[in-house]
Amino acid sequence: MSAPESFYDEVGGSPTFTGIVARFYAIVEDDPVLRPLYPEEDLGPAQVRFRMFLEQYWGGPRTYSDQRGHPRLRMRHAPFIIGPAERDAWLAAMAKAIEPAGLTDSARERLWAYLVMAADSMVNSLH
Ligand code: HEM
Repeated sequence: MSAPESFYDEVGGSPTFTGIVARFYAIVEDDPVLRPLYPEEDLGPAQVRFRMFLEQYWGGPRTYSDQRGHPRLRMRHAPFIIGPAERDAWLAAMAKAIEPAGLTDSARERLWAYLVMAADSMVNSLH
């Protein structure tokens, strides 16, 4: 018996995640709420870290942990002030990035439910 297909495989593997994350960062680049939060001028390395994380989370290669160790995402976001406005801007950018990915309704709903939950858990300020 073969192992059940991971969500990563089900949605098309690396090209799907690469596309979503590239579109997301293209929006961040021009977003007046999100762009100032990113410490580096070049968003390329941040884009790679986020793609590796998502691929690993959904059952793809474990490159994120090989390179970055345990995700500890709340701790890694602590240096940035993330209130409801930043969370909403992040989710709005992500919704636009996911739209063209061609996911089935059920895959999109599963991905979206996770992202909303994760974005809520990253809020660290009520400013
Ligand atoms: C890193 C902002 C939500 C995953 C970062 C960075 C910023 C940021 C400014 C630093 C960029 C870098 O140098 O890597 C935000 C904001 C969010 C948010 C404003 C709004 C709620 C999320 C969510 C996830 C996520 C929901 C996961 C589903 C990551 C990852 C990194 C990262 C994996 C790189 C961590 C590392 O250093 O290895 N984020 N983020 N972020 N974010 Fe977020």
